[in-house]
Amino acid sequence: FHLNIDPQAAEKGAYPFFMLKEIDEQATVARHLIKHYFVDGIPHIDAAILKSIKQADRLYIIAAGTSYHAGLIGRRFFEKWAGIPTEVHIASEFAYDHPLISKNPFFIFISQSGETADSIQVLEFVKKAHYASLTLANVMNSTLTRDVDFALPLLAGPEIAVASTKAYTAQIITQIILAAALAGGHTDLQGQLSRLAVDMQAVIDGKDHIKALADDYLVNADRAFYIGRGADADVTLEAALKLKEISYTLVEGFAAGELKHGTISLIEHGTPVIGLISQSKTAGLTRSNLEETIARGAKTMTIATKNLASANDEIILPELTGEMEMFGPILEAIPIQLLAYYTSLGRKLDVDHPRNLAKSVTVQ
Ligand code: G6P
Repeated sequence: FHLNIDPQAAEKGAYPFFMLKEIDEQATVARHLIKHYFVDGIPHIDAAILKSIKQADRLYIIAAGTSYHAGLIGRRFFEKWAGIPTEVHIASEFAYDHPLISKNPFFIFISQSGETADSIQVLEFVKKAHYASLTLANVMNSTLTRDVDFALPLLAGPEIAVASTKAYTAQIITQIILAAALAGGHTDLQGQLSRLAVDMQAVIDGKDHIKALADDYLVNADRAFYIGRGADADVTLEAALKLKEISYTLVEGFAAGELKHGTISLIEHGTPVIGLISQSKTAGLTRSNLEETIARGAKTMTIATKNLASANDEIILPELTGEMEMFGPILEAIPIQLLAYYTSLGRKLDVDHPRNLAKSVTVQ
């Protein structure tokens, strides 16, 4: 007698798809990261890593796909908290066309799999030039963690769905902790991240409402747009990638101020335009951009943190005020992932295995 159990199918438990399971795990992953990286309430990163980074005059973050989008968010923390100028590069671009490199660069690779050929190609260059490097990866003992000076784990656990979800939020949180450690600690970061984990869970628990919105706005749409400013603009790129890769909708995400410079001509009656609002400095501007699309017939959806929300907003995220505002992208990640998931599901697609895509891309 031979019992044929697919180990992956067994792990999925009651979930129809790995993607939903992995979205659900994000608050737990956040807690794992807090537990792993804080000692007595202080962010704890190997002193040799901090010393090496502190000698650098510039950070170069190298990554692909979703990991690149996480790097865009991380850059804000390295610059604002640690005061280190930071550039974020798409690995496949940097490999063949890199910018002028500073005198003392430090390279940070971000990768879920640790096996992305485009990033490995850049690592080869970094090693030849004897530049210092660190990889943040979910799969330790992978090529990108073995061939660098330093590696830190993302602790997200196995990510099976092709569309990356929990690795993205883990990459952002790990960069935040690293930036805080570089800054010599950060008042009550552990408390702030712990509260954030509770808020993440609250957003995840609101998934039925997000499913209804996906059905209403996206399942029958052939195109959609995400807009936002500042850190919210960074999230629009990931939001667009998630939605297009698993639902095959043509989606663009971009800085809201760019709308009037071209894309607004694509707005027709009923076109979904989704605004992300978590940054107080630019909330009003993004709202007026949404109004401009409404005037042209768009069907807008607003995702806003409670403190910046108006009563009619479709998705209201927990409040993030003061410094906590910088964590906006982590909360926004969840509804944009769920909107993509439920759109794909509503179209009866194979959510975990979108056509033409691989979990780890080992060719250039
Ligand atoms: C593939 C995956 C993406 C991922 C990208 C980078 O395209 O489908 O989800 O973001 O590779 O992968 P990495 O493992 O380096 O983060």
